[in-house]
Amino acid sequence: MLLKDRVAIITGGGRGIGRGTALRYAKEGAKLALVDLEQSHLDETAKELDASGTGVDYITLQGDVSSSADVQRFFDATIARFGRLDILVNNAGIGNPPVHIIDMPEEAWDRTLAVNLTSVFLCSKLAAKQFIKQGADGGRGGGRIISVASQAGKTGYPFLTAYCASKAGIILFTQAFAKEVGAHKINVNCVCPGTIDTPLLRGAGMGLQTSDDMFKQLIGTVLPGIPLGRIGYPEDVAKVITFLASDDADYMTGQAVNISGGQEMH
Ligand SMILES: NC(=O)c1ccc[n+]([C@@H]2O[C@H](COP(=O)([O-])OP(=O)(O)OC[C@H]3O[C@@H](n4cnc5c(N)ncnc54)[C@H](O)[C@@H]3O)[C@@H](O)[C@H]2O)c1
Repeated sequence: MLLKDRVAIITGGGRGIGRGTALRYAKEGAKLALVDLEQSHLDETAKELDASGTGVDYITLQGDVSSSADVQRFFDATIARFGRLDILVNNAGIGNPPVHIIDMPEEAWDRTLAVNLTSVFLCSKLAAKQFIKQGADGGRGGGRIISVASQAGKTGYPFLTAYCASKAGIILFTQAFAKEVGAHKINVNCVCPGTIDTPLLRGAGMGLQTSDDMFKQLIGTVLPGIPLGRIGYPEDVAKVITFLASDDADYMTGQAVNISGGQEMH
């Protein structure tokens, strides 16, 4: 088991990549605090964890990652339940409905940046404080922060400008923060998924109703640009988020790792 008894907070753990990561972490022996805005999403992940046969110890926490009060509550509840923290996975995120930037209302811009980027600041700050405190208390010290950015943080996609800006922000936040906390044995990395089959990709994370036909059409246009010839699944991303939390990634920090079947190579 790669993560035996490590305590992890996974934001957006109710669906998609967050759920895939929760299921994989459970298999690797981690203890989990799953955060999500939607209680119904958390309930569904909880059902899958209970059926997984892993006997995983977990709690679910409903709230908004862009609210500092909610984030403080998530961390307090996690420490109260498990006594420590080892891993933070900043995964919660939203797409912006495709819109020309000159037509984008300011509130939509603000919401995209708040959920996708400010949340990473709020959660990472509390995680690092906790890791440093644990080290000072004579414990194992150190910790892992893994954020879910996107290939859209490396290459601009038209009509997704706010989303791209938020994800590019995560990549540079990761680099700068890794330099700030490296001396405390805190590794800060992010992943850049490509086209991953989740409710977000199918439109639900952008408040859109995408039909199966539209989804097939989208995949048809994307596939020629993916050297490995298929779109990705939450498990593909979960594997790398597991590796980055494991001892095998001890000497990696400040990285933005593509998981895209080769769709993005920079
Ligand atoms: N699916 C893709 O193709 C893809 C590609 C690159 C990056 N990503 C990123 O991966 C992450 C997960 O995306 P996904 O595709 O699994 O999406 P998803 O919509 O399937 O799941 C996201 C989860 O986050 C939760 N969430 C949304 N806003 C929240 C908030 N304010 N507070 C707490 N929870 C909130 C949602 O309720 C949902 O359960 C996101 O950051 C996304 O930008 C996805």
